[in-house]
Amino acid sequence: MAQGAAGCAGVPGVKVLLTESDIHNRVQELGRRIDADYHGQPLTIVGVLTGSLVFLADLTRQLSTAHRIGVLQASSYRGATTVAGSLEVSLDLAPDLQGRHVLLLDDILDTGQTIATLVEQVRCRGALSVRTVVLLRKLGRQTVPFEPDYFGFEIPDVFVVGYGLDYNDEFRHLPYLAALDGHEIAEAFGGQGSGFGVQGSGFRSQPLNPEPRTLTPDP
Ligand code: IMP
Ligand code: MG
Repeated sequence: MAQGAAGCAGVPGVKVLLTESDIHNRVQELGRRIDADYHGQPLTIVGVLTGSLVFLADLTRQLSTAHRIGVLQASSYRGATTVAGSLEVSLDLAPDLQGRHVLLLDDILDTGQTIATLVEQVRCRGALSVRTVVLLRKLGRQTVPFEPDYFGFEIPDVFVVGYGLDYNDEFRHLPYLAALDGHEIAEAFGGQGSGFGVQGSGFRSQPLNPEPRTLTPDP
């Protein structure tokens, strides 16, 4: 868990919210749960380019269930803005999903528009089932009703970068997750700009589904 009000060393204007080890531990937990749910099933994990790449690379290495990996493209943020624009989706890069259980993987569930749209499109490709995993779920932003099957952390309504997530295509390489601007965080927490961490800040990881579930094809 990261502490402190200052920006990250060498990266002015960002502040750590989740450290590498916070993320690593949680991704391990997600991997265990997904293994339990999909054991022995023909699984394909489909990552949403570009923000999910780091999460995809880490999660796939936590799984012992044999699986294929694919990607598709979606984008709604353009250039130097933190405001979402219109959604563009392409399944041109997606593998054949016929007869496969699909786990659609994205970095963050914000309004819910991207993941809800993609689930419908993947279903149309003949998948046996479609489930979703997101690393982050931003609170207070969702406009499209949607429940991910697995998620890592709930976060407050701040713009985050690192661990694959970008601002204007920058910051994806940061190994931790950070809020872009300390002032935005201070505003989001009633002027308290320091001591921001997972505990007591609106940040929390959610218990995973308590029991493994039996996979059945979608009707
Ligand atoms: P949604 O369609 O509004 O749920 O947006 C999901 C997409 O928006 C994610 O896949 C991200 O690419 C992007 N996004 C949403 N919030 C953030 C953020 O705080 N930082 C970086 N990208 C974000
Ligand atoms: Mg994205």
